Amino acid sequence: MKIISSPLELKNYLKNQNASIGFVPTMGALHEGHISLMKRAKEENDILVVSIFLNPTQFLKGEDLDKYPKKDEADKRICELFGVDVLFFPQVSDIYGSDEASVLAPKVRGFVLEGESRPGHFNGVLTVVMKLLNIVNPTRAYFGKKDAQQLNLISLMTKQFFMDVEIVPVDTVREKDGLALSSRNAYLSKQERAEALKIAASLRAASALVSRGILDADEIIKVMRETLAPLEIFYVEVVNRDFEKISVAQIGNTVILAEVKVGTTRLLDNIWL
Ligand code: PAF
Repeated sequence: MKIISSPLELKNYLKNQNASIGFVPTMGALHEGHISLMKRAKEENDILVVSIFLNPTQFLKGEDLDKYPKKDEADKRICELFGVDVLFFPQVSDIYGSDEASVLAPKVRGFVLEGESRPGHFNGVLTVVMKLLNIVNPTRAYFGKKDAQQLNLISLMTKQFFMDVEIVPVDTVREKDGLALSSRNAYLSKQERAEALKIAASLRAASALVSRGILDADEIIKVMRETLAPLEIFYVEVVNRDFEKISVAQIGNTVILAEVKVGTTRLLDNIWL
């Protein structure tokens, strides 16, 4: 496995490969969710590139940037084990200068749900993803469906900027008891982890309603909120694949999402109908 920290060195190296490139951007603290992205990218491309970059611009003031789990050595071993060909491991100064151009998230879709509770977060995500895609120039880039709004905005950006990359959504990986894998799960105490199971339970309750033909969004949201109580809820919402709120769920065009606080940790999850 080659480890490269300079954007220009990586760009030049990949330019000469004449092969399909699968790219998995991450912020490190790799888990089974990342591994499933890597496996899929490995299967579908000649070269697998993974980036590990804890992007400061997507954290708001007072958020958990400083305590975000850092596991550089373990991450490198995981990458090696799962056949990563090139690991891009830049420093902040390799990616950002002092007076910077940036990408702005769309005014509506980028500022609802997570974008409403974390205003500006998606500007940071889109800016770094634009930079990473321009450096790696991949054939395909892989993102988890757990971060559904992020995935939607990245797909939108690559279409609207006429970028030559296929964005591939990959299913959420869960623990046996339903908890969606997230680097943030590392913050949870034993008791908080047990409380966090309410998130998957609320989505199962939503799914049970849908399978009984109950598609009314208010009804679904009410039952989910009851299941999540007494956790602090940022949002519970039923949206279409364009992230517009809808009053009736439609099979094939709906995402049901929840974001809650467990202890001091923000956790999100969703199901796609
Ligand atoms: O999902 C993540 O880990 C990050 O938001 C991403 C896409 C790597 C950008 O920093």
